[in-house]
Amino acid sequence: MTPSEAKQRIASLRAEVTRNDELYYRRARPELNDPEYDRLKRELAELEARYPDAAAAAGPSSPTARVGDDRAEGFVAVRHRLPMQSLDNTYSEAELREFHARLARLLGREDLAYVVEPKIDGLAVSLTYEKGRFVRAVTRGNGVDGDDVTANALTIRALPRELKRSARAPLPDLIEIRGEIFMTLAEFERINATRDDSGEERYANPRNLAAGTIKLLDPREVAERRLELVLYGFGACEPPGAGGETQSGYHALVRAWGLPTVEKFWKARGIDEVWAAVGELDRVRRSFAYATDGAVVKLDSLALQREAGSTSKAPRWAMAYKFAAERAETKLLAISVQVGRTGVLTPVAELEPVLLAGSTVSRATLHNKDEIARKDIRVGDFVFVEKAGEVIPAVVGVNVARRAPECVAFKFPTRCPSCGSAVVQAEGEVALRCPNYDCPVQVRRRVRHFASKACVDIDGLGEAMVDVLVEKGWVRSIADIYRQRRENLLSLGKSVEKSTDNLLAAIEASKRAELWRFIHGLGIPHVGAAAARDLASRFGSLDELSQSRHQDYIGADGQSLIAGIGETMASAIIGHFNQPINRTLVRDLDEAGVRPAAPAARSAGTGPLSGKTFVLTGTLPTLAREEASTRIEAAGGKVSSGVSKKTSFVLAGADAGSKLEKAKSLGIAVIGEDELLAMLAGR
Ligand code: IVH
Repeated sequence: MTPSEAKQRIASLRAEVTRNDELYYRRARPELNDPEYDRLKRELAELEARYPDAAAAAGPSSPTARVGDDRAEGFVAVRHRLPMQSLDNTYSEAELREFHARLARLLGREDLAYVVEPKIDGLAVSLTYEKGRFVRAVTRGNGVDGDDVTANALTIRALPRELKRSARAPLPDLIEIRGEIFMTLAEFERINATRDDSGEERYANPRNLAAGTIKLLDPREVAERRLELVLYGFGACEPPGAGGETQSGYHALVRAWGLPTVEKFWKARGIDEVWAAVGELDRVRRSFAYATDGAVVKLDSLALQREAGSTSKAPRWAMAYKFAAERAETKLLAISVQVGRTGVLTPVAELEPVLLAGSTVSRATLHNKDEIARKDIRVGDFVFVEKAGEVIPAVVGVNVARRAPECVAFKFPTRCPSCGSAVVQAEGEVALRCPNYDCPVQVRRRVRHFASKACVDIDGLGEAMVDVLVEKGWVRSIADIYRQRRENLLSLGKSVEKSTDNLLAAIEASKRAELWRFIHGLGIPHVGAAAARDLASRFGSLDELSQSRHQDYIGADGQSLIAGIGETMASAIIGHFNQPINRTLVRDLDEAGVRPAAPAARSAGTGPLSGKTFVLTGTLPTLAREEASTRIEAAGGKVSSGVSKKTSFVLAGADAGSKLEKAKSLGIAVIGEDELLAMLAGR
């Protein structure tokens, strides 16, 4: 490779890795599976090491020199007391042995004691406990600053508000306890089943869903999904040493405090025992509650860990050995292209059925047009299919040696496979879309979503019935549901009189469904059920919502005015109603006699705090935050996350942060726990 070729390749790999970091950490929607991503990153690191001049010429910043960044809009950034580093990883036994050899040289001894733990495939979190009381949960972020996700983490049942006191495990004054938030496969399947019911796209895998869930702006939505927790390390600790002396002791200590730790770990002396433990872990890991993608090998002695130290990015005393993805080779019979509710075209590989990681696989995702071109995947090829943490298998490459000469490059359709419209690609987007709002597949999916249980919930208008109505041309838009003619429906078959009348009655009754159900049913990007409820209570009608403007959502100071609704959602809602067809739908629904029920007051509005909005900040002397929120809401008040002019009181405790400053600058009343308790008692 010439230096100029190296420079070019380095630049393109950096762009590719950066793009995939963004997809993985910030958007929880990776396009590559882990092994594919690791291969890219490794190639980049190797080129940078081999061609340092070319690397410098390609620009100063490389994703190999930083940890991914998960920080998202709508969260307050908090600095970790001790940075959260990442781990070096390898897929090779030789490199794992090299890790030990390096440490043995560095520490001047061979007989090093290690702990081998499962590497949990979730998202990293740091919990702070002060004098045994839970204070906050922060994501890794960029390793230095993370997002405060305390409100969402409080929905995790395994997370104790108070650590257990025990004579054997005295509580430190302050401790950062680190681990991973994850979702079980069973919970993931449960959520996807409800997505199927409402005709929504399935989530790809539990890790992404867990990562997406912890970043939802509304803790009520988080509470609807069950997240779990497992802990494996410490950050800062005061007084130093209160975290014990060994990693093997960590698990017992943390468990004595009532916190969940890994299901199983192995103590090993020397690298041969480590390697045997890694093999043992691989044999048993499928019975764990969480997905594991490798083993983490750590020096057992915390004193030796300190002696070994860290590089800028990762500790020298630990190494992740990642298990190779399970992989199979099979023939690609066809590539079908599916159309989603919003018109996005997704290519799917139709495969000769093959056994992979315990199940038969006959379809696999191909992500998008660019991925097919990048991997040069052709119909008739023998392809490699991998499952790595992913529940949906992916085609990761082609066995070019087995390619038949007649295989030609795949031509991605330029027309929608459902309606024949010319497809379009929005600037900056990888996805191709069918732009035709009346495309039958899109209509079907839109109407299915609207009528589903999660939305307006029209009994008798399930997926099959929607498909019939769309196929007959009787339903072209959501409003057409309310224009069904009895004689048409009766023509669908013999003895359908009763079901027809039931359906018409259900459609009629649905006109008075709660407003939030209609809002959710419109399918506005990013607007889920909880946000739909907030929008319903703020705007009171579809018409008002459709006329909402940016200033209804975001104050002049940039703060969100409706709790739980940030910039992304606000733009999505405004963008949605900027399209004339979506405004027309609101009018059509009204003309068809739709009269949504007034938003059910979430709290009867009769309690002593009715009409008052509270913002909580800092640690209260006796009440946990969640408890304070619950009591405020039970008394008719509202709890909101951001301080704005509409805030009635800021409830401040110890270590209150920027919210307190903001309250002062806006002249908002600041109260303490005592005053809250008095208000709750109606005094
Ligand atoms: S120890 C200084 N132990 O893997 C870093 N990490 O790929 C200490 N992870 O950022 C991390 N299971 O989020 C450690 N048993 C385990 C782990 C684990 C999963 C995650 C962690 C880390 C990432 C690196």
